[in-house]
Amino acid sequence: MYSLSYESIHNGQLREVEIEKIITKWREYNKANSITGCLMTYKHKCIQILEGPKDAIKALYNTIESDNRHHNTSIFSENPIDERAFPEFTMAYLPITLEGKDKSGFQRLKMNIAILSDFTNPVHTTAVLFWKKIKEYIDSDAASI
Ligand SMILES: Cc1cc2nc3c(=O)[nH]c(=O)nc-3n(C[C@H](O)[C@H](O)[C@H](O)COP(=O)(O)O)c2cc1C
Repeated sequence: MYSLSYESIHNGQLREVEIEKIITKWREYNKANSITGCLMTYKHKCIQILEGPKDAIKALYNTIESDNRHHNTSIFSENPIDERAFPEFTMAYLPITLEGKDKSGFQRLKMNIAILSDFTNPVHTTAVLFWKKIKEYIDSDAASI
């Protein structure tokens, strides 16, 4: 098995409501191809992790990369894996939103991410880096307030 994680910048179309509407179709495809993972959106960024058979992951990433609902896709981690970090999720969707840009808002957000990353048990490097990437974005925003 294989895991790959990338980030991208989504265009205005791909807002929460839009993703909620189309993700069912994506999950059906993923299920049929033994793909699991998690899609996170934070501000204008998408961060996604895919897990499954290597050929299926490469093929899906190629499709996703050429999807014009986002751009600047960039893989930041990929590696062979023995175990899935998201075995129960054909594609978990976590839209991260800031409830007020104050210190306590960021603290709550950081705590929620810490709980989620523990909950999904990051059993391989790409899963560890997936969560790390999100934490870094939140930390850098928190530092600027
Ligand atoms: C950020 C992002 C994540 C996506 N994730 C998936 C996914 O996990 N599974 C999937 O089948 N399609 C996903 N897609 C959609 C594909 O790019 C593509 O539209 C889909 O496979 C259907 O292909 P089609 O439009 O050619 O029928 C994603 C698209 C974007 C922009």
